[in-house]
Amino acid sequence: MDKIELIQKMIEQDCTNAYAWYLLGLEYCEQGVESLALQAFSEALKYGDEALKNKIFVELGKLASKNQAEASPASRREANEGFEKIHSEKAEKDEDLQEAAAVPDNLISLKVIEGGKRIGNSLDQETPAVRFHDVGGLDNLKEIIRMKIVKPFINPGLFDRFRKKTGGGILLFGPPGCGKTYIAKATAGECNAKFIPVHITDILDPYLGMSSQNIKDIFANARAKKPCILFFDEIDTVGYNRSKLSSEHMRPIVDHLLAEIEGIDSSTDKLLIIGATNMPWDVDSAFKRPGRFDKTVFVPPPDEAARISIFKLKLAGRPVETIDYELLAKATELYSGADIDNVVEVATENVIHEILSSGKERPISMKDLSDAITSTKPSTIEWLRTIKNYVKYANQAGLYDDVERYLSKHKKILG
Ligand SMILES: Nc1ncnc2c1ncn2[C@@H]1O[C@H](COP(=O)(O)OP(=O)(O)OP(=O)(O)O)[C@@H](O)[C@H]1O
Ligand SMILES: [Mg+2]
Repeated sequence: MDKIELIQKMIEQDCTNAYAWYLLGLEYCEQGVESLALQAFSEALKYGDEALKNKIFVELGKLASKNQAEASPASRREANEGFEKIHSEKAEKDEDLQEAAAVPDNLISLKVIEGGKRIGNSLDQETPAVRFHDVGGLDNLKEIIRMKIVKPFINPGLFDRFRKKTGGGILLFGPPGCGKTYIAKATAGECNAKFIPVHITDILDPYLGMSSQNIKDIFANARAKKPCILFFDEIDTVGYNRSKLSSEHMRPIVDHLLAEIEGIDSSTDKLLIIGATNMPWDVDSAFKRPGRFDKTVFVPPPDEAARISIFKLKLAGRPVETIDYELLAKATELYSGADIDNVVEVATENVIHEILSSGKERPISMKDLSDAITSTKPSTIEWLRTIKNYVKYANQAGLYDDVERYLSKHKKILG
């Protein structure tokens, strides 16, 4: 088993193993497979701690410098020649010389197409079918989004008359699985706008200059598809606190992104931005200025009423006995929406399994759901414990006031 296989095995066992992703990135760098190295580093950025992120930025910087050097006309010619050679050897084998002769001229444009394809693939540019009524609870957040995004979007005249600025976006933060992406999609659904998710892998490119080009393309593509909502997921990995950036090369990328965001005129562009992060403390404060993500909103785990509606939403259309939704909600304190989704899936799976082995069909019962709850744990606890320190020591701007209220309500469990 070679080194890469070994690391891949580690990742198979735990796909959130940031260090393994990092090692995989290093190996791919060593072998010169930059696109795979970049992918691996992006995954490592998702799960790594600050120290590891710093190391990754250094590696990304090295990749970028290397590619800048390689992008000289002479080396491009060399690359073309190499490519030509590989292809002509292949062609000899294939006895298909004609096809091979057409390939080398396309090398440079081939790279461009690859970049574009990556962006195109990751952006599902449909108007989502999800609406606010599909999102359980989060009533405060829905109201903020209605006032700041939906109403100005569908009723721009009123805001124009009062000269009310409508630019800028909302930055959602909170524990995983609590509906940040889901409500962003639902917002697009409410506005009848397309939903364009953007991830760090859509931006970063080992070819220096291509990252900036990617940012340009993303915004140009969004303007061409208006009305739409650009959703920057895991914005902490893109807008990583600039003072912590060890790579000189990341700074211009972040600055370029900020300039593009600021350049949006929502009323004419019909282009809105929503950002999301699990790590608000890692998001550069430059992202939070007026005209950028100027409203930061906490997306908490669903409260009891929200859990009732999420259970109802998730069980709708499935064969069930009489269900005591209040009891389910009481038993799932701190569960995220995704955790509740999982509880319903586990219960359903168990019932199907039983039906398949007994041959006797029956609906999902309260007991199935209670058993599924007992066999699972809320996934939000670790995040809530982490943010406790930030609330305690880094809440000067009052950014975490809502979180503080939430934590003190759940002192018993969280300590
Ligand atoms: N309030 C909710 N109402 C209904 N379903 C929900 C709610 N919150 C979460 N879910 C369910 O959980 C899934 C995961 O939610 P989502 O992807 O929006 O979480 P997230 O906050 O973006 O998590 P992450 O930080 O991991 O990206 C959704 O697809 C949805 O099925
Ligand atoms: Mg998400």
